Amino acid sequence: MTSLTLARPDDWHVHLRDGAGLASVVKFTAERFGRAIVMPNLKPPVATAAAAAAYRERILAALPPGSDFEPLMTLYLTATTTPEEIDRALALGFVHGVKLYPAGATTHSDAGVTDLSQVQEVLERMQAADLPLLVHGETPHPEVDVFDRETHFIDTVLAPLIERMPRLRVVFEHITTARAVEFVRSARAGVGATITPQHLLHNRNALFAGGLRPHYYCLPVLKRERDRAALIEAATGGDRRFFLGTDSAPHERGTKENACGCAGMFTAHAGIELYAEVFEAAGHLDRLEAFASHHGPDFYRLPRATRTVTLIKEPWTPPAGYAFGAGVVVPYRAGEQIGWRLATPALERP
Ligand code: NCD
Ligand code: ZN
Repeated sequence: MTSLTLARPDDWHVHLRDGAGLASVVKFTAERFGRAIVMPNLKPPVATAAAAAAYRERILAALPPGSDFEPLMTLYLTATTTPEEIDRALALGFVHGVKLYPAGATTHSDAGVTDLSQVQEVLERMQAADLPLLVHGETPHPEVDVFDRETHFIDTVLAPLIERMPRLRVVFEHITTARAVEFVRSARAGVGATITPQHLLHNRNALFAGGLRPHYYCLPVLKRERDRAALIEAATGGDRRFFLGTDSAPHERGTKENACGCAGMFTAHAGIELYAEVFEAAGHLDRLEAFASHHGPDFYRLPRATRTVTLIKEPWTPPAGYAFGAGVVVPYRAGEQIGWRLATPALERP
């Protein structure tokens, strides 16, 4: 097979940043995806309906001319978020989730929540309104081993939450372990998970291959080979609970190639092509469309795309850097080949 046409995919977890950086990166996402769930971890965080509306306007203004890309906005949950703020966000019609960052877990998460009891009323309102909670599932405590943070979070926070709130819909974001796969598979209805390309393509050895590799550092950190195998099985197995979320997270080169480098990998420039590699290697290219274009909208109760995109099996090489505001972002696979490329702009299905 040399080409593959699928319903236009959506990215259910992406960081588009703001200002000049936003204008630099949003075009890559808009070229490939019809919609994307836009993460709210700006500085300051997108914590109110008004902030989400203003951020959405900035995203729309930064799109390439003629683009019909639709940003799906999220609110950043803080200890002071009120149920009324949830109502205001819902009234806008374009807020599709509320993001839980355990305080200290990742980039710009310091405004996050330290204890879920702080936000119980907000969660109740979300449950009543059927607004999904999007969870960065890691325990940030320094005494918990960095490779065990996801498992610790499942046991101490996520499992009890899902039990306590039986109708709250929850997306376990960017899962990275076999344990998380098992957890989602056996969870009650209304629990889904996104999976990134890097966690499907690499294990933690990539961080140390021949030296320290900052461009493979993201959170949650890459895990063991057996975890990667479980993620591949989940993504390519046809299970509707798993769907595409790149977690493309651009950082300026100097902040990654640094004595204290930022977490985040930039993958938006190949955000669907990389998954094609994974599905092809697993012998399940026929299931890419379900993972990339069906399971996500079904979970979020949005219509599936009517347009299509076509991928061609033809190698290309991303450059050493792309402009990122006044600086540069080093893309994933810089200077190395990617096996698939995007052939067409999105087209109406004939
Ligand atoms: C993300 C970022 O840079 O905003 N970084 C990352 O490593 N994934 C934050 C996040 O999603 O954890
Ligand atoms: Zn993220």
